[in-house]
Amino acid sequence: MPQYYHITTMGCQMNKYDSNHIRQLLQNSGFLPADIPDNADLILINTCTVRAKAQQKAFSLLGRMVSLKKRRPDLILGITGCIAQQEGPDLIKRFPGLDLVLGTREIGRITEILETIKDDRKKVVATNIELKPISPVNYNGFFKGQVKSYISIMEGCNNFCSYCIVPYVRGREISCPPKEILKEAKNLISQGVKEITLLGQNVNSYSWGEKKEINFPMLLKTLSRLDGLLRIRFTTSHPKDLSDDLIHCFGELDNLCPHIHLPFQAGSNKVLKLMNRGYSRERYMELINRLREVKPDIAVTSDVMVGFPKETDEDFQMTLDLINKMEFDNLFSFKYSDRKGTLAEKMSGKIDKDEISFRLDVLQQVQKGITLKKNKTLEGKKVEILVEGDSKRGGQFTGRTGTNKIVNFNCNNNIIGQLVEVDIEYAFVNSLKGVLIGSDN
Ligand code: SAH
Ligand code: SF4
Ligand code: F3S
Repeated sequence: MPQYYHITTMGCQMNKYDSNHIRQLLQNSGFLPADIPDNADLILINTCTVRAKAQQKAFSLLGRMVSLKKRRPDLILGITGCIAQQEGPDLIKRFPGLDLVLGTREIGRITEILETIKDDRKKVVATNIELKPISPVNYNGFFKGQVKSYISIMEGCNNFCSYCIVPYVRGREISCPPKEILKEAKNLISQGVKEITLLGQNVNSYSWGEKKEINFPMLLKTLSRLDGLLRIRFTTSHPKDLSDDLIHCFGELDNLCPHIHLPFQAGSNKVLKLMNRGYSRERYMELINRLREVKPDIAVTSDVMVGFPKETDEDFQMTLDLINKMEFDNLFSFKYSDRKGTLAEKMSGKIDKDEISFRLDVLQQVQKGITLKKNKTLEGKKVEILVEGDSKRGGQFTGRTGTNKIVNFNCNNNIIGQLVEVDIEYAFVNSLKGVLIGSDN
C-alpha cells in the first residue's frame, strides 16, 4: 500500500526550499503527496521562529495535529525547521504525540530516520548542526512545468545581528560548491524553469575555494550566461557586504532582474549599532544611490523593524526619514520580538507594546503612500513580464516585472513561461493591471 505524506511550510524561502528537498527525498523513496493532513500517513510541519508570532502559529498547528494523532495512532508526526532546531528534545516532552524532531541540517537523513521510526516505533530527535551544508538537490523532473525556482547557494549566517535567532537555528555560514550549483541550474533549465532565484541569508558573502577565489559576483556572472535562463535574481543581501562589483552586475548582466532586496532594519545610527548591523544610515543611503546610478530603474525593497530596545521617538523619526528619502518600492515591516538567547533579549529599555503597534502603523501608512506613488508612475507605460500562471481571479493571467511587481492581465492563449510586453492601465498598492500588447483581449 502506498504511503502518503503532507508538509506544511511556514517561514521564509529557505524553508520552502527545504520542504521541496524533503518532498523530493520522500517521493524518491515511494511516498506520494496527500492533499490534506487527514489523508496522510506522515505529517511534517516545517517551522519558523524568527518572531514569537511565527512560533505561536506553529505550536497551535502542532497541537491540532497531535489531536489528529490521538484518533489515528499509526500516524507519524514530525516537526522540522527552525523551531525543531531551537527546541530539540523539549518538543517531545511538550507534545508527546510527536515522533520526529528534525533539525535544519539533518533533513537529508529523513528517509533513513523514518525507517527507524517505522521499524522500532521509537521517537527520534536529530538536531546536529555541525554537519556539512546540504548540496543543492538534483531535482530529476520535480520542477517540470514550473516557471521559476530557487537554488540555495549557502547555509547559515555568521552575522549575529543582536535581535536575530537565525544564526542559532541555521548554524555557521557555509557556501555550496559552485559545480553543484551550476549542475542544479542546468538541471532546472532543462526542465523548463525560466527564472532562478539564488538563496541565502546573506548571498553576497558567498565564497568558495581555499583562497576564496570565487565570490558572489563571479558566481552570478557564470550562472547568468547559461543558455535558456531568461531571468536571474538573488536574495537576501546584507548592506555591509554589498561590493562595487556586485553593484556593477546590475549594469552588466542583461538577465539579472533590476531588483534588490536590501534590509536596512533601522534609520538611526544608535539603533543600528545596538543591532550590530555593521553600517551607518549614511553608508546605507550611499549604497542605494550607487545602485540607482548604475541601474536607474532598479527597484529597491527592504526590511525594517520598529520598537527595538531603547528606540526613542527620535530614533523612530530617523527611520521614517530614511524611508521618505529612499522611497522603497516595497517594505516588509515588523514589530521587534524578543528571541530566546539573543543579545537583544537581555537589553534594557524594552519598548511598550502599544507604542510599538503605533509606530508600525505610522510607518506602514507612510510606506503605503510611497508604494502606490511608485506604482502609479507605471500607468501608461509598457513593461516586460514573465508569465507565471493564472492569477487567483478566473480568466486572468499573472506575471512579474523584472522589478518584481505583480501584473494581472487577460489572454486567451496559454503563454505561461513566456516573456511578454504589457501596457499598464491601472496601478494598485499590491499589483498592477495591464493589457497584453499585440492581443485583442
Ligand atoms: N537574512 C536576512 C533576513 C532574515 S529574517 C537579512 O539579514 O536580511 C527576515 C527579517 O525578519 C529581517 O530582515 C528582520 O527585519 C526581521 N527580524 C529578524 N529577527 C527579528 C526579531 N527578533 N523581531 C522582529 N523582526 C525580526
Ligand atoms: Fe539574522 Fe542578521 Fe543573519 Fe540576517 S544577517 S539572518 S538578520 S543575523
Ligand atoms: Fe524563519 Fe528559519 Fe527562515 S527562523 S525566517 S524559517 S531561517
